[in-house]
Amino acid sequence: MIKRLIFLGPPGAGKGTQAKVLAAKWDIPHISTGDILRQATRDKTPLGQKAEGFMARGELVPDDLILDMIRERLQEEDAQKGWILDGFPRNVHQAEFLEELLAELHQKADYAISLEAPDDVLVERLTHRGRTDDAEETVRRRLQVYQEQTAPVKAFYQEHDRLKVINGDRPPEAVTIAIAETIA
Ligand code: AP5
Repeated sequence: MIKRLIFLGPPGAGKGTQAKVLAAKWDIPHISTGDILRQATRDKTPLGQKAEGFMARGELVPDDLILDMIRERLQEEDAQKGWILDGFPRNVHQAEFLEELLAELHQKADYAISLEAPDDVLVERLTHRGRTDDAEETVRRRLQVYQEQTAPVKAFYQEHDRLKVINGDRPPEAVTIAIAETIA
C-alpha cells in the first residue's frame, strides 16, 4: 500500500529521526523542508540566502519560499511511490496549500502523525545536539513558534479525521514501533 504521511510535532520530538528509519524501511522518500533549506544555505543558493536569517532566529521561513519548493519536490519521480513529509506543513496556510496540491496530483495524505514530548525533554535534547539553531534561546523561540503557528495544524487534520498523536518521550525504537502499529 502506498504510504503518504505527514510528521508533525515540536522541535526535538524526533520527526527527523523517525522519518529516516521509516522511509528507509518502506523505501519511500523522506522529504524534510528543514534539510532542503539547510542544504540551500550551505550551497548559498538564492533560496538559502533568503532563508538563513529566519532559520537562525527560529522563525518560520516565509511561505512563498516554501510552497514552490514542495510543489516541485512532490512532482519528482521518486515521490510517486509515497513519501514522509517532515516539517511541512508548518502552519494552516501551508496545510491548505498541501490539500489543494495533492488534489491536483490525485494524491491524498493518509495520516498526520504528531510526535509529542514535554518541553523540558525537547530543550534538553536540542541543546545537546548542537545545530546552529539549537542555542537555548533559539530553541525556546522555535517552541513558541510551534505553539503559535504549527500546533493549529493538528486541529486541521483532526477535523479531517486523519490525526494520530504518538508519545515521543520514550526510546526511539519504541516510537518507531508505535508509529508503524498506528498506521497499520
Ligand atoms: P526543521 O529542520 O524542521 O527543525 P524542527 O522542526 O525544529 O525539528 P528538529 O529537527 O529540531 O527536531 P525533530 O523533531 O526532527 O527531532 P530530531 O529527530 O532531529 O526546521 C528548522 C527551521 O527551518 C525552522 O525553524 C524554520 O526556520 C525552517 N523551516 C523548516 N520547515 C519549514 C516550513 N515548512 N515552513 C517554514 N519554515 C520552515 O531529534 C532531535 C534530537 O533528539 C536529536 O539529537 C536526536 O538524536 C534526539 N532524539 C530523537 N528522538 C529521540 C528519542 N526518542 N529519545 C531521545 N533522543 C531522541
